[in-house]
Amino acid sequence: MEHVAREKGTSIVLALDPVLGKPQRLLEISTKILEKVHPYICALKINRQLVLPLGLFNGVQKILRLAQEKGLPTIMDCKINDVGYTNRVIAEYYFKAGFDAVIANPFVGWDEGLKPVFEVAKSKRRGVILLVYMSHNGAPEGYGQTVRDLKTEGNTLQYVAFAQKALDWKADGAVVGATYPEKIREVHSILKDSVPIFSPGVGAQGGDIKAAVKAGARYLIVGRAITLAEDPAEAARRIRDIAQNV
Ligand code: XMP
Repeated sequence: MEHVAREKGTSIVLALDPVLGKPQRLLEISTKILEKVHPYICALKINRQLVLPLGLFNGVQKILRLAQEKGLPTIMDCKINDVGYTNRVIAEYYFKAGFDAVIANPFVGWDEGLKPVFEVAKSKRRGVILLVYMSHNGAPEGYGQTVRDLKTEGNTLQYVAFAQKALDWKADGAVVGATYPEKIREVHSILKDSVPIFSPGVGAQGGDIKAAVKAGARYLIVGRAITLAEDPAEAARRIRDIAQNV
């Protein structure tokens, strides 16, 4: 992904989340947007909003193939969050369908939690990106809590503990909301350049592109500000240019 971003000069990850509709129509809309926007993005992210109506194989796979043709890595935003046995099977399916990386939730821990996901990803040379601080208003209720660190037995903040796990588990990315640039800065000071920060929340959720990039976001995940724009290509180009010129 890093080389695609460097070669194309863009840090924008497109979140392809079309609104409710019939599967055939959703597939057409998704394909159309991707055809228009691909020159300005370095990766494609899909979530269950599209997997549920289209199905993983045949439906979503058609979009993945198009992304591959365009040289774009693909991320499944499934926020894996169950016991290890189930997590492993979920990850296997997404990787089998062709995704290059999955997003997972460190709340479930390592042992019998995310360890199997990292193992599967490593064996298939795919990636795992961890949630560290989400972008929505309610994020502080979970990610901002003060918790007890099992190793030091001292108090720490949940997202600080998650950033540390991203380092310890050798995650391929950490998600921190663009709506909380101060959290991006803090997490970046922990991760440095070892784990890149993916930041959703610019545009529709109110996050500021420049503030997120200045604080240390390597990639911006952008959905509605592009997909719902009258001219998605122009919107993507504009966001790319703002981010590149920070
Ligand atoms: P918008 O339309 O708000 O879309 O630009 C954002 C996209 O990113 C997803 N999202 C998140 N994914 N952690 C994630 O892993 C987050 O904190 C987060 N916040 C938003 C959202 O599902 C949509 O696809």
